[in-house]
Amino acid sequence: MNKSRNILLLVGSPGGASSTSASLGHYILDQLAVQGFVTTELNIQSEVQSSDLQTFCKTIDDAEIILLTFPLYVDSLPAPVINTLELIRDRRVKSQVNNQKLIAIVNCGFPEASHNEWALAICEQFAQEAGIHWMGGLSLGMGGVVHGKPVSELGGIGTNIVNALDLVVESIVQKEDKIPEEAIEYMATPPIPYKWMYTSIASISWIFGALKNKVLTKIGSKPFV
Ligand SMILES: Cc1cc2nc3c(=O)[nH]c(=O)nc-3n(C[C@H](O)[C@H](O)[C@H](O)COP(=O)(O)O)c2cc1C
Repeated sequence: MNKSRNILLLVGSPGGASSTSASLGHYILDQLAVQGFVTTELNIQSEVQSSDLQTFCKTIDDAEIILLTFPLYVDSLPAPVINTLELIRDRRVKSQVNNQKLIAIVNCGFPEASHNEWALAICEQFAQEAGIHWMGGLSLGMGGVVHGKPVSELGGIGTNIVNALDLVVESIVQKEDKIPEEAIEYMATPPIPYKWMYTSIASISWIFGALKNKVLTKIGSKPFV
């Protein structure tokens, strides 16, 4: 096996295969598989927590590039993702793995991609502490637009996402040290140009969700206040 052309996708969403995080990661993995890369995928919430630590660590060590995709949770990373990054970091302090690279893709529910900045800063800090080369991160707002659909099937609404991910694929294939700024800009461009349109659709889907779960009259409840 050619170690230098391995890519590992770590999906950090509890939504698993039907999450936006998985869709974004799968697009990159599929493109790289066509180019002859060995691709591996682990879901942090399910497989990582249930698989044995040795196997998990070996899979991490074997990857030339780690692609971490996750949703923004309370302006940060989901707790199991933080636990996993701390596990990798603590292990790396004891034994180094050279020439590894990290790319992170975070998506959030609010329309503005800027909410994701702190989460990407945390990923960069992790890379520094773990001795992994930070290639950079992509940040997507309006993550609900993807909603687990394959990125290649999003149509016009997914144009900027596809442009961003294609540039990332190219930078990986070309063994570049950083993902291009253009890719970051494409991904941060709102998929729907009007915020009101996105928030209206999101509000309607909340109402349908509440109806489905028979809690429409409780939609404004604040049980923890
Ligand atoms: C517990 C929780 C916390 C969240 N916190 C934020 C947040 O701070 N900012 C935000 O924009 N979206 C937040 N969201 C929304 C998710 O980031 C958004 O739904 C995302 O698209 C889910 O991605 P996924 O399908 O990859 O899991 C939160 C969602 C949950 C369930």
